[in-house]
Amino acid sequence: MSVTVPDILSPEFESDPYRAYRSMRQNAPLLWHEATRSYIVSRYEDVERVFKDKAGEFTTENYDWQIEPVHGRTILQLSGREHAVRRALVAPAFRGSDLRDKFLPVIERNSRELIDGFRHSGSVDLVADYATRFPVNVIADMLGLDKSDYERFHGWYTAVIAFLGNLSGDQEVARAGERTRVEFAAYMLPIIRKRREEPGDDLLSTLCTAEVDGVRMSDEDVKAFCSLLLAAGGETTDKAIAGIFANLLAHPEQLEAVRADRSLIARAFAETLRYTPPVHMIMRQSATDVELSGGTVPAGSTVTCLIGSANRDEERYRDPDTFDIFREDLSATNAFSAAADHLAFALGRHFCVGALLARSEVEIGVGQLLDAMPDLRAADGFVPVEHGVFTRGPQSLPVRFTPVSG
Ligand code: HEM
Repeated sequence: MSVTVPDILSPEFESDPYRAYRSMRQNAPLLWHEATRSYIVSRYEDVERVFKDKAGEFTTENYDWQIEPVHGRTILQLSGREHAVRRALVAPAFRGSDLRDKFLPVIERNSRELIDGFRHSGSVDLVADYATRFPVNVIADMLGLDKSDYERFHGWYTAVIAFLGNLSGDQEVARAGERTRVEFAAYMLPIIRKRREEPGDDLLSTLCTAEVDGVRMSDEDVKAFCSLLLAAGGETTDKAIAGIFANLLAHPEQLEAVRADRSLIARAFAETLRYTPPVHMIMRQSATDVELSGGTVPAGSTVTCLIGSANRDEERYRDPDTFDIFREDLSATNAFSAAADHLAFALGRHFCVGALLARSEVEIGVGQLLDAMPDLRAADGFVPVEHGVFTRGPQSLPVRFTPVSG
């Protein structure tokens, strides 16, 4: 029996990918997609296996065409020892004492500044006025870049994400992405050279001076990593914060539980990452023939892993289409480490290096927003609509609240 599932590039798919995912998992767990020339994989067990890659069957060579044209060569493309060394060079800045002592104050300050812009107004669009700005402001501030350039960073990362999600190959989107690479290099390289001469206490200086086994990053490496950070750390956390509020506003009793007990923010974040992950698709390349549910992926193929589907696999989660921060089959303790049982940060070697930073941003940001908006509610009759296929999240989220006096 041949089963048709909506094409991932169709408007029908974008309006409700979750329905299509269900059909793929049940009827076509390995699906050839002609337009992207890739095999689509939708079941949890298969996506997990591809990410963990215990047998060394997959590479990330797909990033050579997927992101190198906009960022230059980044950690995502590296493998083996080269990847391990690069990871060791950058990872310490995103956890432990660097995160706690240097960057938590940066996160708190940037969140507060944005909230100060609307805390007395009684209404705000949480996407346009907070979520799309907060993470990119944090990254730029961590890097020690000039605040007045924030609008440019925002424009650049939007172009980069459009390039990454350009599954239909729109020429204008491709050209805008490539222009961004040139503009960003012209902006960053002089700053990097200056920071090497006069290092400070910021993330950029740390990246310029980091050394592991006698290896340091070149100016080009540092620039490419900063470009990746703006996109990987901006767009994703942006969609996560908007997603948490959209999900909690749709479940007022869970919103009240989180408001009363702020330690539940981590649970709400973990469940949001499962239920509405910011990144829905991640690609890999097969190094050998690989057997997955539904057939064989020939060596040298591109594989599109559907995180958004895997995270709603009924074989893995009970009532997968229900948002429940108290669910017992998702650990909030492990949700931000490579032992996570949702797949929103991927797993294995390339597990998101910024997961703990993202958790800190979400815990601080959501906490401050709840304090500023004690009776937060969606604007009259507004129902958030998710947009996007590769990355996905609410496009706007207008809310009302009674300002806190004082
Ligand atoms: C909710 C927020 C976030 C989500 C959902 C997310 C998602 C992901 C995913 C799915 C990957 C794996 C890509 C792959 O395996 O091909 C990844 C890797 C990565 N992420 Fe994140 N990310 C988030 C936040 C951040 C932040 C805040 C930063 C940094 C500031 C960051 C930096 C990175 C980097 C550098 C990698 C590449 C790691 C490597 O190749 O070893 N991410 N992220």
